Amino acid sequence: MEPYRFHVFVCDQKKPEGVPCCSARGSAKVIDALRREIMAAGLAEDVQVTTCGSIGLCERGPNMIVYPEGIWYSVVQVADIPEIVSEHFQSGRVVERLANRDQAALRAEIDGNKKKMLAARAANDAAGVLPDDFQQAVRGFQASRILLSAIELDVFTAVGDGASAETVASQLATDPRAMAMLLDALVALAVLHKDYGRYTNTPMSSRYLMAGARDDSRAALMHTAHLWERWSTLTDCVRQGTSVTHREMVDRGDEWTTAFIAAMHRSASARAPLLVHAIDLNGVRRVLDVGGGSGAYAIAFAQANNDLRAEVFDLPTVVPITQRHIDEADVADRVTTRTGDLRTDDFGDGYDLVLLSAICHMMGPEENVDLLRRCFAALSPGGRIVIQDFILAPDRTAPRTAALFAINMLVATQQGNSYTSEEYDTWLREAGCDDVKHITLPGPTGLMIGRRE
Ligand SMILES: C[S@@+](CC[C@H](N)C(=O)[O-])C[C@H]1O[C@@H](n2cnc3c(N)ncnc32)[C@H](O)[C@@H]1O
Repeated sequence: MEPYRFHVFVCDQKKPEGVPCCSARGSAKVIDALRREIMAAGLAEDVQVTTCGSIGLCERGPNMIVYPEGIWYSVVQVADIPEIVSEHFQSGRVVERLANRDQAALRAEIDGNKKKMLAARAANDAAGVLPDDFQQAVRGFQASRILLSAIELDVFTAVGDGASAETVASQLATDPRAMAMLLDALVALAVLHKDYGRYTNTPMSSRYLMAGARDDSRAALMHTAHLWERWSTLTDCVRQGTSVTHREMVDRGDEWTTAFIAAMHRSASARAPLLVHAIDLNGVRRVLDVGGGSGAYAIAFAQANNDLRAEVFDLPTVVPITQRHIDEADVADRVTTRTGDLRTDDFGDGYDLVLLSAICHMMGPEENVDLLRRCFAALSPGGRIVIQDFILAPDRTAPRTAALFAINMLVATQQGNSYTSEEYDTWLREAGCDDVKHITLPGPTGLMIGRRE
């Protein structure tokens, strides 16, 4: 029995530039249109769309195969999608003008393409050509730099509803030739469209990269732009064993701090519901959010439990931003702030829960044990320390995000790193916790929870 009436496999194969393939021939737009049309026709339960690798008709993409009949459609354009949906999926009639009915010709074409592909692979191998994915990884900085410069210059806002390169250049006081080059590269990266010399935003850039956009992410992305300089020092950091550009958070200036906390706030707002869901807040009355940043977690705790009061502990340069978020969430009667230095201060006592979200990675092992001891001292009996962070597998090479984040800490901090659950377990026990648990969450971070008996 088939779980769907129709199962459509659409090729989305990507190949090196210049080599024919469905993605180069517009499969992404066709897949998007197909999914939308199926939804609009109310067929989401009947028709399953699955993207797949090459089906061997690369010069005639985009290609799709519809099962159970096994009909191969080629050179499918966005404009063909309504007909395929209404004819094939609604009326059960094959769209003959797009269908490949000659099985023998189909097979010969596939075999011919396979031979060409194997010959090209053998030639590359004989010539010692670097693998494509490795070359792409090495050159990855180019796309990243183009995007970061566009964000720094606020190009997407200047493009607005549509503009020429000259207009964007003059609005941003930049060189017209260079701006045209940057805009064209942004089109190549599919974050802008270009039509007769006029540039427009894509749905993605209009939603995230323009001033006044619904999910304006420019402030948070500026933090990534700020990381660029530090990451350029990685080679020296590896030689020296630590960050060669380290500056204390309090000395980094307003622009840096605003972007940093905006970036933290974006990910914290997305993760706060998961964290709140994973922790039993029954009976929790007092929470301390150490290095609480924007206060997103403290606010989420207060919103989840009306009896709970939370205190966000952070640097004097950050707490005014925290206060703004608390006021906006209208929880100032139950969420308060305290300024201090988490590396040295005592945190007081009487807390049911102390949260350390994205804090331990900034510090070395001994600093973490010292911090956890002070957090433990702040707990009432039965209270918990909750650590949220990237948690590495025992051999430290996975998950990839955690392993790469360790490098972010190498270039930015004196002793920071990503750590394993075993390390957190040991430190929480050294700090005095008896019962220690590792909770996995969907996404890049997990929880380590230690309880004071
Ligand atoms: C990576 S952010 C995490 C913010 C927040 N906990 C979250 O998960 O979104 C680190 C936080 O620690 C704060 N911080 C860094 N050094 C600090 C220090 N010495 N004393 C107090 N807070 C500090 C930063 O201001 C920032 O808010």
